[in-house]
Amino acid sequence: MGYAFSRDDVAHLGSAAGAAALAEVDSLALTPACLLRDLERIRRSHGDRAAALVETVRLRRRATAKLAAAREWLFTDDALQQATPTAVARHRAERLRGRSVHDVTCSIGAELAELARVCPAVIGSDLDDVRLSIAAHNLSNARNVLLAKADALRPVSTAEVVIADPARRADGRRTHDPAKLQPPLPDLLAAYAGRDLAVKCAPGLDFDKLAWAGEIEVASLDGAVREACLWSPGLAEAGVTRRATVLSSSRPPEILTDAEPDDIPEREPGDWIIDPDGAVVRAGLVRHYAAKHGLWQLDPRIAYLTGDTVPDGMRGFRILDRMDFREKPLRAELHRRDCGPLEILTRGVDLDPDALRAKLKPRGKQPHSLVITRIGKTATVFLCDTP
Ligand SMILES: C[S@@+](CC[C@H](N)C(=O)[O-])C[C@H]1O[C@@H](n2cnc3c(N)ncnc32)[C@H](O)[C@@H]1O
Repeated sequence: MGYAFSRDDVAHLGSAAGAAALAEVDSLALTPACLLRDLERIRRSHGDRAAALVETVRLRRRATAKLAAAREWLFTDDALQQATPTAVARHRAERLRGRSVHDVTCSIGAELAELARVCPAVIGSDLDDVRLSIAAHNLSNARNVLLAKADALRPVSTAEVVIADPARRADGRRTHDPAKLQPPLPDLLAAYAGRDLAVKCAPGLDFDKLAWAGEIEVASLDGAVREACLWSPGLAEAGVTRRATVLSSSRPPEILTDAEPDDIPEREPGDWIIDPDGAVVRAGLVRHYAAKHGLWQLDPRIAYLTGDTVPDGMRGFRILDRMDFREKPLRAELHRRDCGPLEILTRGVDLDPDALRAKLKPRGKQPHSLVITRIGKTATVFLCDTP
């Protein structure tokens, strides 16, 4: 939950006096070991403002991993958790470059900031007054952004594109039920029927149930799947219904769509096993990824790929041995190889890697990886080098 900021807090934190106080608080460690002492000191100089100051500094520190402007921005705990990471928001904004866009659930403005860089006119609206006042602070340098209080379910602008990011938590819990989002997804889609619309959703959404007529883009950042974005038909690329966007802080993005070929050979495993990025798996583009990189599947129903080379930037597991999965012979083989730290990947088999590791007792010195999966009907283990 975190500290409940008021609009008065936001006004103070955004003032020159607030900025000076935040700089002072930021010079303190605020680690668990010294928090009490630091708090006492802050209370002596800032009285009732202490809680808002400390919370803001801690949120800013946490936000640096996610948001480019973290050091200048204001947040609430929930709003920071819900904010789209800069890299993902920037990618979405690029797709909308040059258009006028209305973000109808703008919160503290993480999407607005990226839209403002590439779109001539941007509107942000939300129902939450505190978040809107924080957005006003966070976007005070953006001249092309207009903020307003409005219900997303009552269209109020004629912007070319509407984007929305319904809140994923109801009663403090994550939900995958589209009707329980705030605002509810079915109501949102009905409110903007026929308009160009992009809606950020949880990646766990049941795509088949939704029967979406446009494009669904699944995006990951640094290996973690972050979201699925529904693009209405007018914003989708011709012939594309699924897209995987693999974003990285250190490499150019890899983008794959279902308009690309997915013909791959059926062959015995090659030298390597490759576990494709979660965005590729979630978007249902494992075969397309394999075709693009000269790989093939270990089994047609399983998302592990194999080949004789490893695509750039991917972890590859070099296969040393392959056997049917039985614990006793596997334990003996690991012992023979002086196997130590053991990474265990499983797919298509009902196994708990931690429980299995405890039973296999790998006490040697050589790190190894096990890829355990189903080939046809047979549970099979590939003993691999650890990449
Ligand atoms: C997940 S957050 C959006 C986060 C934002 N995309 C960002 O990156 O910072 C959802 C927002 O929707 C707002 N909201 C919920 N129901 C709404 C409604 N009916 N109309 C407008 N905003 C609404 C909430 O106040 C919240 O700020």
